[in-house]
Amino acid sequence: MRIDIISIFPKMFSAVLDESMVKRAQLKGKVKIFTHDLRDYTLDKHRKVDDRPFGGGSGMVLQVEPIFRAVQAIKKKIKGKAKVILLCPQGKRLNQAYAKKLSGCRNLILICGHYEGIDERVRQYLADEEVSIGDYVLTGGELAAMVLVDSLVRLLPGVLGDKNSLNFESFEGNLLEYPQYSRPAKFKNWPVPEVLVSGDHRKINAWRKLQSFKRTRLKRPDLLKQ
Ligand SMILES: C[S@@+](CC[C@H](N)C(=O)[O-])C[C@H]1O[C@@H](n2cnc3c(N)ncnc32)[C@H](O)[C@@H]1O
Repeated sequence: MRIDIISIFPKMFSAVLDESMVKRAQLKGKVKIFTHDLRDYTLDKHRKVDDRPFGGGSGMVLQVEPIFRAVQAIKKKIKGKAKVILLCPQGKRLNQAYAKKLSGCRNLILICGHYEGIDERVRQYLADEEVSIGDYVLTGGELAAMVLVDSLVRLLPGVLGDKNSLNFESFEGNLLEYPQYSRPAKFKNWPVPEVLVSGDHRKINAWRKLQSFKRTRLKRPDLLKQ
């Protein structure tokens, strides 16, 4: 998989791309991630990427021209089709099923907005999909792009050491994950459920299934309705 990210703050991405799972996925060759400074696609000497909104109003709007040039340049480099995604609070809400779907794409181009937003023509003519990471407004699309990248890179085959860890994760089969415990078994007066240290795997599995169901009913009953 190849992911290209267009942003006016490309340095922000090193926090996620150069650490932990996403870094390991790149080292293993499972994903190639490139960040692009939108200002590199401007033609004026001030490298201007934004302007005031037509019709008046507060804030600045990212202009369509440099974004168009960036998308075209990236598409030229990519062999094959690329899905262009605009990070946007008005987009389709990201969830595990959507992350799974996107993790099946060969090439993704992510566009991060900033300031008051982005020229509407980016949405109309350049983006294939709009993705939101939740019903709140961030300062820019960078954090949203990082969330999206992390959520789908860990789903790529061979990225997680133990592929079973994906099968039993929250949202798999519309259930939340069961409670997890580790050593020490005795700490203060906070016991670990007996069944987990019993060694009886049939009982452990049954207990986990039940806990998973109970938690989902308690914390996210909406998932059970799906
Ligand atoms: C301050 S926001 C603009 C919000 C816009 N004025 C509105 O009311 O819809 C700037 C940029 O942050 C990104 N952004 C903000 N919230 C987001 C969210 N929940 N999901 C994805 N991207 C978001 C988008 O790229 C957006 O263009």
